[in-house]
Amino acid sequence: MQTQLLIGGQWRDGGNAERIPVLNPATGEELATVANANEADAVEAVAIADEAQKKWAATAPRERSEVLRSCWQILVDHTDELGELITAEHGKPIADAKGEISYAAEFFRWNAEEAVRIRGSIGDAPSGANKIIVHHPPIGVVAIVTPWNFPAAMLTRKLAPALAAGNAVVIKPAALTPLTALRVGELLEEAGVPAGLVNIMPTSGSGAWFDATVEEKAVRMVSFTGSTEVGRVLLKRSADRVLKTVMELGGNAPFIVFDDADLDAAVEGAMVAKMRHSAETCTAANRFYAEAGVADAFTEKLAAAMAEVKVGNGMDAGVSCGPMIDAAAIESIDGLVKAAVGAGATTALGGSPVDGPGFFYEPTVLGNVAADSPITGEEIFGPVAPVIPFTDTDAMIEQANDTEMGLAAYVYTTDIGRGLAVSERLESGMVGLNRGAMSDPAAPFGGMKQSGLGREGASEGIYEFCETQYIATSW
Ligand code: SIN
Repeated sequence: MQTQLLIGGQWRDGGNAERIPVLNPATGEELATVANANEADAVEAVAIADEAQKKWAATAPRERSEVLRSCWQILVDHTDELGELITAEHGKPIADAKGEISYAAEFFRWNAEEAVRIRGSIGDAPSGANKIIVHHPPIGVVAIVTPWNFPAAMLTRKLAPALAAGNAVVIKPAALTPLTALRVGELLEEAGVPAGLVNIMPTSGSGAWFDATVEEKAVRMVSFTGSTEVGRVLLKRSADRVLKTVMELGGNAPFIVFDDADLDAAVEGAMVAKMRHSAETCTAANRFYAEAGVADAFTEKLAAAMAEVKVGNGMDAGVSCGPMIDAAAIESIDGLVKAAVGAGATTALGGSPVDGPGFFYEPTVLGNVAADSPITGEEIFGPVAPVIPFTDTDAMIEQANDTEMGLAAYVYTTDIGRGLAVSERLESGMVGLNRGAMSDPAAPFGGMKQSGLGREGASEGIYEFCETQYIATSW
């Protein structure tokens, strides 16, 4: 298992002498300790990345594309090993972890295809005086900060388009789950990524590492996935150097079930939207609005489906919900559940933490939740489904939009016209219409309002890692 920093193609100790312990959240046991980067490591990595980037940007797009294709292949070839690493450090069930590797690898295949399709344009100035040529060179060195909930896929969703466009990166993986990122880095070098282009540095001093990184002149962009709270801080710090930023931040997804919905399909979709990857996704359904005619039946069926969820160590057969990431997560989830029940919600299922070792929470369904209950205003990030009955569609849409978040939303109805009309009115970057999952490397992932800035994936994703230059000329 690789536990050192990756800087300039070398594996080395970090400037912070104290190594970072990585725990298995299913058992609380220490899996490993990893090297701990300090500000000097960040500064050195940026200088190395800057040099490597200039050579990489000069390679042909086809050459970059072929390297990315090899990265896809090597990750696919190591699905089992990487999946086990994710389950060990994150806790998600092994099937989800292997699914994450396939999702993560796909960002390389998709961007291998995009690398040779970065389009510019040429046109005539309206005056006829000159031509307007537009092209898209790479940005330079990009600082990437990734979250613990998808240790591989949130890394490759940024890294693959960054490399495809001709950039180099310095990466700070989450200190809770750095092992997958380090192993991915090792595999990418084996796949032919030149030394110095991808530098990976876990650190326990995130703020100091970030400040030192973004103060370096060569860094021109920040790409971050994590909470809105941290995103705001990074935006403020990036503003001092007017850096380009892509921010994938928090969510508070409404899941809307109309009277005419196919209830079994809605429950199946709800289980995916709520429970995939142990309910720790920012796209997770957070508030279930069920029309009055089906609210009781939906709550009952959802509780029955949640009761079938086997909670446990993600490596064990049949487990479909692993542990939460740490003790603080359990405390936060339980606080929200208790507040909702205190405000009048009924408990249809669960409602309590599970005794340790490890950090587990019971799959929970709350019925008759008031629209203004405290739980509807917070991102739960755990296996808890609050159901809010509604009678008036306009009022429900107003409530669904009454949040600063706008990442994902879900709508279930058999009337596709109504589904599309409601989808359009939702202030959300992504909508699942009769679908519980929407993540796809070929689709633009991202949020409205305080859920983020910019998009990842699709053809939009690669342009985030490009500059736009216009040349006026005539001949
Ligand atoms: C996230 O939770 O940050 C990403 C979820 C996804 O890509 O599906």
